Amino acid sequence: MLPFSQFDRHGRLRHLITLEGFSAEQIRELLERAQHFLRRPGELAARGHALAGITVGNIFTEPSTRTRSSFELAARRLGADVINLEIMLSSRVKGETVLDTIYTLQAMAVDVFVIRDAEPGVGQFVAEHVAEHVSVLSAGEAHLSHPTQGLLDALTILQFKGGFRDLVVAVVGDVRHSRVARSAYQVFTALGVGELRIVAPDALMPEPGEMPGAKRFGSIEAGIAHADVVMMLRIQKERMADAAIPDPHDYFARWGLNRARLKLARPEAIVMHPGPMNREIEIAGEVADGPQSVIRQQVTNGVAVRMAVLERVIQNRNLRRDAR
Ligand code: NCD
Repeated sequence: MLPFSQFDRHGRLRHLITLEGFSAEQIRELLERAQHFLRRPGELAARGHALAGITVGNIFTEPSTRTRSSFELAARRLGADVINLEIMLSSRVKGETVLDTIYTLQAMAVDVFVIRDAEPGVGQFVAEHVAEHVSVLSAGEAHLSHPTQGLLDALTILQFKGGFRDLVVAVVGDVRHSRVARSAYQVFTALGVGELRIVAPDALMPEPGEMPGAKRFGSIEAGIAHADVVMMLRIQKERMADAAIPDPHDYFARWGLNRARLKLARPEAIVMHPGPMNREIEIAGEVADGPQSVIRQQVTNGVAVRMAVLERVIQNRNLRRDAR
């Protein structure tokens, strides 16, 4: 078997499991397209027909409201049918294997699988087994990858800062357990970020050698000083052995982003968070809701980015079909 590729034999995007190896060009092209799907507040949401006749299956084995709704709205607004499965509640517990489930859904003409799983490798495994016309998109894989989140984070920074070259971007908190941080690292690096900082207590730092090129900081004060972008992460309690779970009060006191600390960053710095937020643990409510927060814009951008990705893989599927 050929080594796994997210691209078809013409080099066009077919699956999206990771942003690793994406060029700046490939990323910019998706982000430019996403920009077309944004509307001003109060205007009707963007719609299209690119997914007319297509069926999207959302398979989420971890709880998620926002990413699932975001993919669902993106697909519906482009004309797709959508089916949502929480597989732990359905076939897995009845002993059906992942592939049985996938082949069953494929037999019902599901064309795109959107998969979130706590186990590494599920998305790629499915992608290696589906029919040629089918695409697999990751909606979050273990602690490893969350590609559409990385794209929406990059889009948000471009909207507010115009480019990456001169920026200091600080990624703060539970970097170790964060797929959001890993995808952010990949996409910001590909786009040529000026300085990327990872800012975390020792226990929440990734392994040495991971995220080469990023500067490591062991205190939030030093880590966000003069930053242009402060990207906070959720404490991933579900991925920590009990012993590693910091006391919420202590954590907020030492690592929480409050108003006083935010003053250390550049005055025009933006504050990001992928959600769901633990208010008064990693971020103060008044910062999350404050004038520098772009957290809701991230959510808006999420739908646009997912529309762009869905549209692209379906266009590429049509090109493969027409070439036959
Ligand atoms: C993130 C996730 O689930 O990976 N959230 C999200 O996709 N909206 C971040 C997180 O849960 O910390």
